[in-house]
Amino acid sequence: MPRETPKNLWRSRWGFLLAATGSAVGLGNIWKFPYITGEYGGGAFVLMYLACILAIGIPVMMTEIAIGRRGRGSPIDAIGRVVRENGGNPLWRAVGGMAMLAGFMILCFYVVVAGWAFAYTWKMLDGSLAASSVEALGGVFEAHNANPWQLGGWSVLVALLTLCIVGKGVQAGVERSLRWMMPGLAVMLLALVGYAFTSGSFKAGFDFLFHFDASKITGEALLAALGHAFFTLSLASGAILTYGSYIPDDQSITRTTFMVVLCDTCVALLAGLAIFPIIFANGMSPSAGPGLIFMSLPLAFQQMPFGTVFGVLFFAMVSVAALSSAISMVEASVAYLNEKHGISRLKAAAASGVVLLLISLLAMLSFNLLAGWTPLGKNVFDWLDFLTSRWMMPLGGIFMVLLAGYALRSEIMRDELGLPPLGYALWLFMVRYVSPVLILMVFLHALGWLGFDPVQRWYWIAGAIGALAVLGEVLRPRIVQVLAER
Ligand code: PFF
Repeated sequence: MPRETPKNLWRSRWGFLLAATGSAVGLGNIWKFPYITGEYGGGAFVLMYLACILAIGIPVMMTEIAIGRRGRGSPIDAIGRVVRENGGNPLWRAVGGMAMLAGFMILCFYVVVAGWAFAYTWKMLDGSLAASSVEALGGVFEAHNANPWQLGGWSVLVALLTLCIVGKGVQAGVERSLRWMMPGLAVMLLALVGYAFTSGSFKAGFDFLFHFDASKITGEALLAALGHAFFTLSLASGAILTYGSYIPDDQSITRTTFMVVLCDTCVALLAGLAIFPIIFANGMSPSAGPGLIFMSLPLAFQQMPFGTVFGVLFFAMVSVAALSSAISMVEASVAYLNEKHGISRLKAAAASGVVLLLISLLAMLSFNLLAGWTPLGKNVFDWLDFLTSRWMMPLGGIFMVLLAGYALRSEIMRDELGLPPLGYALWLFMVRYVSPVLILMVFLHALGWLGFDPVQRWYWIAGAIGALAVLGEVLRPRIVQVLAER
């Protein structure tokens, strides 16, 4: 079957790399990673997170890019085309649909957090962060959230900016701006780590991040680590698959994936190394929740030379990093409406904007007017985060690897990934056995159906995966043969 001719391709080899890194590196690394690491107790969580990135994140990302490039389109269409080429069941397109929905739901709360970053860039300038204690900065953060006009205004600004950029077409804007932004962010973070090094509590921060305490490993923390691995790499939410559909045929998917994952992980760890020493130096609790960076970092900026300039630049960089991630969350929906229904990109972005504003309004009001409205124990902001990170993305990830590992003919993925035999065998082992079994275990444990702690009994799981792989590879050809003869 002839391959689709791509309508949009990145302008340069760097295009996909920059855009995918722009999508992956965002508030997840600088805002969410430190605060959930703080909540789940530090080093043990970091270890579980890194394990999830290696065992699940990398194979899923390779799979998504490969399916995107093979099918050349939005997640629903790309999966549809690949499955059609394979002669399979079109129902698989639902996996693409769920991914697009997850991306959109994430955006509905992400604009609120990105709004914080934009507002703090401004607040650094106008002196409202001149408070000299963590408590006082906590008060500034709470006052900002208590005012629906202020919180809403900044969030709506982010939503409108995102939709304008996506409406115009991602490639030009994204490729150009990310070229200077990503190195800029890295320099800022390194400088902050340098400052943290001199703050007197670097060792405490370092130990908190990297000191491994086995008692902190719980099923709940593992589920959070798994969800965060998906969130931080923008997986199973339409972004990477859609960006992958614009990648040139001769670019190496494996190399690109490793580079994106490396950048993303380094930024998260650097953010942790910058933030935790400052938190300990100022007697703050690492489990302060979503306001963690907004209550701690302004204090550091006040104490360092040229702190205001530095603080403005830092929050501006975080805002741009958030924007480049936000863009990628709607790209899939806009690409879908544009391709499938022939609606112009601008109109598609406007239509998405209406729905986005309606839902994100509920997320914005979760901090003030609707603060008391917590159906089933969570406000709308928390529900959107919880449903996407804990359930939709890992579930989407399972289906993605099952599609690539079992449902598609092996030539398709082998062709796309272009790996040497050993590399391909390793990828296949990961997507057929390791990733699905691990995700399933974490799910079953979270539901309380497993009956043992998967981390304490990791050797059972390793053995089960090994046995499953041997049995699976022996039996599979027979099963396929029997099915073919029927
Ligand atoms: N990876 C982004 C971050 O770490 O901030 C969040 C994200 C972007 C999630 C795009 C999902 C997505 F589709």
